[in-house]
Formats: sequence, structure tokens, C-alpha cells
Amino acid sequence: MLGWLLAALAALAQGGTVTAQLVSCWKKCNNYRVFHCSWPSLGPAGNTSYILNLWFEQHGQSQEFKAGTVTQHRPLYRQLYTLDNTTAWVEARWGDQVHRTPNHTLHLDKAVKLDPPPAGMPFSKTGGQLRLLVPRPQCHGLEQPPQREARFWRVGDSSWTQVTCESVMVTEENDSVTCALEVNGTFVVQLRQKFPHWSSYWSDWSSNISVPEESLGSPVLSHQLGRLGRDGQRELRLSWQPVLTEQRDVTYKLEVRMLACGCAESDEEDNVALGWEVTEHNLTLSGAEYKILLTAVNAAGPGPAQQLHVPPDQHAGELGAPGCRRLAVHGRDPERGWATFALWHRYSRNDSLVVPVSINISTGDAAVVLQWEPSPRAACPGALHKYLVCHVTEGDNVTYSEVEATASNYTLQNLEPGTAYRVGVWEVTEDSNEPCSPWQPFQTKALGNG
Ligand SMILES: *[C@@H]1O[C@H](CO)[C@@H](O)[C@H](O)[C@H]1NC(C)=O
Ligand SMILES: *[C@@H]1O[C@H](CO)[C@@H](O)[C@H](O)[C@H]1NC(C)=O
Ligand SMILES: *[C@@H]1O[C@H](CO)[C@@H](O)[C@H](O)[C@H]1NC(C)=O
Ligand SMILES: *[C@@H]1O[C@H](CO)[C@@H](O)[C@H](O)[C@H]1NC(C)=O
Ligand SMILES: *[C@@H]1O[C@H](CO)[C@@H](O)[C@H](O)[C@H]1NC(C)=O
Ligand SMILES: *[C@@H]1O[C@H](CO)[C@@H](O)[C@H](O)[C@H]1NC(C)=O
Ligand SMILES: *[C@@H]1O[C@H](CO)[C@@H](O)[C@H](O)[C@H]1NC(C)=O
Ligand SMILES: *[C@@H]1O[C@H](CO)[C@@H](O)[C@H](O)[C@H]1NC(C)=O
Ligand SMILES: *[C@@H]1O[C@H](CO)[C@@H](O)[C@H](O)[C@H]1NC(C)=O
Ligand SMILES: *[C@@H]1O[C@H](CO)[C@@H](O)[C@H](O)[C@H]1NC(C)=O
Ligand SMILES: *[C@@H]1O[C@H](CO)[C@@H](O)[C@H](O)[C@H]1NC(C)=O
Repeated sequence: MLGWLLAALAALAQGGTVTAQLVSCWKKCNNYRVFHCSWPSLGPAGNTSYILNLWFEQHGQSQEFKAGTVTQHRPLYRQLYTLDNTTAWVEARWGDQVHRTPNHTLHLDKAVKLDPPPAGMPFSKTGGQLRLLVPRPQCHGLEQPPQREARFWRVGDSSWTQVTCESVMVTEENDSVTCALEVNGTFVVQLRQKFPHWSSYWSDWSSNISVPEESLGSPVLSHQLGRLGRDGQRELRLSWQPVLTEQRDVTYKLEVRMLACGCAESDEEDNVALGWEVTEHNLTLSGAEYKILLTAVNAAGPGPAQQLHVPPDQHAGELGAPGCRRLAVHGRDPERGWATFALWHRYSRNDSLVVPVSINISTGDAAVVLQWEPSPRAACPGALHKYLVCHVTEGDNVTYSEVEATASNYTLQNLEPGTAYRVGVWEVTEDSNEPCSPWQPFQTKALGNG
């Protein structure tokens, strides 16, 4: 008949569940007038009557509450001294038996039991650490985050494992709670919290939070990059091997960052979320330099990102010439997406526009061939418009001829034999305004001399 009591005492002796043998009295944090007192069953149900005793030492007063045959009671607020220590115990009587619980010291004003953390809290798990965003209980006198504990049950385990958690206030409303589980796998986790005072109680455990395996790796990415088209766009074809996981709760996050752009990190617009079944994606980019990040994400959070560097598009060799700068305007508009809107070159050196020429007069009586080294500007698209060739002889007006920017020689024809000329070759650029001036002398061959 006393088996249950012996069991209870055995538990007490082990120290494991002491509080279970004690009277507990608590209030909800935002309803300070109602106290809930309860205690373990101390005798046969239905035949045992209980008396709850509260002793207010500082006031030299005690209160007795007859609870009948139930193991709980709600004393009225005005019957209590809540601001000082109170000793509480319960007496149980059945037949001629009397039993009582050990004494328990309470500070009723702080004997708060919070509600458990709610369902649906956002969480992530990386490196064995579980991080949750937990709403802070709206509770008078709670100036620091509540204490929090977690317990987890790993798939295949036979019991809960309990750990303490760290809470950091992040906003008025929410705490960031970090629990070091330090094991891998798929879990069920529960969280509980406690007002930080010796006389307060742990909340009940929250409902189950299912935490999947952390993403195992980053997707293996391959790509094909197209050339910049006339529309200022090029296509990047991406494909990847899916991360190894049996769960279909994986999604892929594709981030597109234009490196030259000092834009805020990872503009939301440039992020693409893709389902677990997707293994390829085409991106339309401008000619600029990009960094592409592909990440597998599940409810535990993102795995490591796979990176791809997309170099800027440059028509081969163009950048070789010294002083040649390629300028481009890349951008993004809602209609087209990424595009290169304008592209041009600028030759930034202001060395002389005079071209040194060698003059071959051996070609004939009435013609000479001018030859020159191609200007470095000629290798810079758009920088050299053309060459201007001018020649003159005594008493005549200067004759001008235009020569393509790609040329490196020009034949002056219809010259007078045996005559002294001067010639000049000048580069013509976008912003040059120097006229061609003939300065290099030569003499055509005399008739019949050769
Ligand atoms: C309760 O007490 C009555 C009268 O003493 C007795 O007949 C009954 O068996 C008891 N019930 C239990 C559950 O002990
Ligand atoms: C109230 O009880 C607590 C816990 O037993 C004790 O630490 C504290 O000193 C007591 N306060 C007073 C005023 O007796
Ligand atoms: C419990 O506390 C009351 C009031 O202080 C005291 O009279 C009683 O002896 C205590 N009982 C035990 C077992 O300490
Ligand atoms: C607190 O977290 C919830 C999600 O749990 C979010 O909806 C809410 O905006 C957060 N509040 C603040 C002030 O950040
Ligand atoms: C969890 O898994 C990671 C990666 O597989 C491993 O490096 C780490 O040691 C594991 N941790 C534990 C506690 O097993
Ligand atoms: C919570 O998870 C535990 C451990 O897996 C399980 O025993 C329990 O039934 C779950 N509770 C609910 C309400 O699903
Ligand atoms: C990507 O582009 C290639 C060629 O233009 C096409 O064959 C492929 O189907 C495209 N993939 C997707 C996912 O649109
Ligand atoms: C460019 O030309 C101007 C005017 O002739 C001169 O003052 C300047 O030093 C030149 N700069 C370079 C880089 O040659
Ligand atoms: C000048 O032209 C002649 C005839 O075309 C050619 O034989 C000769 O090699 C040329 N000389 C030079 C220095 O280019
Ligand atoms: C030189 O040009 C001027 C004006 O264009 C013209 O009047 C004159 O006849 C020209 N001289 C010769 C020698 O062609
Ligand atoms: C003149 O330039 C042309 C190309 O512009 C080239 O084919 C030709 O051989 C050159 N002639 C001489 C004499 O260098």
C-alpha cells in the first residue's frame, strides 16, 4: 500500500526529482493575482485529504488552505505576502495516517512560470550549433533574456539529451538563442525557458521542432559562358550536381554579384531560389565581371557556397596596347536584366600625333611610298579615327589625303619629277584639332634617271 511513497522517497534519496516531491506555487508573468499551487499525490487517490500550508516568517503569520482530495489549490492573492520569503508544505491525511512534504522556500512575487516558447520559430543549424529566433516573453520586470534550455532526441536515440542555451537580445521583441548540440544528424528539439530568479520555474517544453541534417556539401557547378552579343548581353549556362540528400526539403540559392558594382551586398533582385529538382539555370549577364554563388539550403540553414568567377568580356587582345582603356556601362533594368549598355575605348596617353614616316622614292618618277609603324592608338578600338597625310611643294597649296586607321602605308601619286616636297602624316583622334603640317622633306627622282 505504501509502495508509491517508498518509490517517491527513493527518488528523493537519489536527488534526481526532488522538486517533484515539493509544493510548487507559481503565477503567469502577466497575471500576478492568480497563483497555481500543486504537489505530488501522497496517499490513495480519493481517500486522501490535503492541507496546503504557507508560513510568512517575516510577518509571523501562516495560512492553511484545505484543498480537499485534489493535489492543487489556487490561493487568493490577498491572502498572501508575496514580497518576502514564504515556506510552503503540504500535509496529507488518510485514515489515521499523516504525511507531509519537505519544506519549500518561495518568493511568491518572483515565482513565475513562463509560457513555453511558441511553435514556428525560425532556426538554423551549422557546425552542431542550433540557433533560434525566440520571442522574448512580454513580462513585467524581465529586463534580461530568460534562461533557456533545449533537449533533443536524435533519430535512433532512446532518450532526450539536455543542453543549456545562450540567449542574446537582438531586438525589442526577439532573442537569438544558441544551443550547442554538438552532434550531427536529424533531430527533434524542444526548448523551455525560465524567468531568471531563484524562485521562478521552468516553463513547459515547447512543441517539437524538427531539425533536418545539415546540408552535406556544396553543389558541384559547371558552366559555359557565351560571348557578348550586339545587345550587350551574354549568356551563362550553369548546371550542377545536386547535393547528396534523401530529403527533398533542399532548395538552391543562386546569387549574382557584379563585382564592379558598389551596390549593397547581394541585392535581393539578383538572388534566385530554385527547387530541389532543378540542376541547371541560364543567366543573362552584361559584359562585366561577376561572382556567382550557389548554395544548397534546407531548414537547418545554408551549406557552403560554390563560387564561380565570371571574368569581364573583352574582345581578345584589345587591352594589350598601353594607354588604351576600355570603358563600359553595365547595368540592370527590370525588362532586360543585366546588360552592357555602352562600350567604348579611350586612349589616355597624349603623346604626339605626328607619325614618323619612311619615304621610298625608288618606286617611280611620279610616286613615292610613305610607310610607318602603326600607331598604338590603332590597336585601341575607336581611339584612332584615321590618318591625315599632307604634302606640299614650293609655291603650291597643301594637298590633304585621308587614310584608314588600319593602314600603315600610303602612296603619293601625281608628283612632279625632280621636285622638292615636304610631307607629314598625322593621327586624327576624337578630340585632336592639330592640323596636318608637312615637315619632312623629300625629293622626287628626276626624269629618266633610273
Ligand atoms: C477508501 O476508504 C474506504 C473506507 O475506508 C475504503 O473502503 C476504500 O477501499 C478506500 N479506497 C481506496 C482506493 O483506498
Ligand atoms: C529567501 O530564500 C532564499 C532561498 O532560500 C535565500 O537565499 C534568501 O536569503 C532568503 N531571503 C530572506 C530575506 O530570508
Ligand atoms: C517547515 O517550516 C515550518 C515553518 O518555518 C517549521 O515550523 C517546520 O518545522 C519546518 N519543517 C521541517 C521539516 O523543517
Ligand atoms: C521577431 O521574430 C519574428 C519571427 O519569429 C518576426 O516576424 C518579427 O518581425 C521579429 N521582430 C522584430 C522586431 O525583429
Ligand atoms: C559532424 O559532421 C562534420 C562533417 O561531416 C564533422 O566534421 C564533425 O566532426 C561531426 N561532428 C560530430 C560531433 O560528429
Ligand atoms: C516529439 O518528439 C518525441 C521524440 O521524437 C516524440 O517521442 C514525441 O511523440 C513527439 N511529440 C509530438 C507531439 O509529436
Ligand atoms: C539554357 O540555354 C540552353 C541553350 O540556349 C538551352 O538548351 C537550355 O534548355 C537552357 N536551360 C534552361 C534551364 O533554360
Ligand atoms: C599631356 O599634354 C599636356 C599638354 O601638352 C602636358 O602638359 C601633359 O604633361 C601631358 N601629359 C602626359 C601624360 O603626357
Ligand atoms: C622601295 O620600293 C622598292 C620598289 O617597290 C623596293 O624594291 C624597295 O625594297 C623599297 N625600299 C624600302 C626601304 O622599303
Ligand atoms: C591655292 O588656294 C587658293 C585658295 O584656295 C587659290 O586661290 C589659289 O589659286 C591656289 N594656288 C594654286 C597654285 O593652286
Ligand atoms: C601597304 O599596306 C597594305 C595593307 O594596308 C599592305 O598590303 C601592303 O603590302 C603595304 N605595302 C607596303 C609597300 O608596305
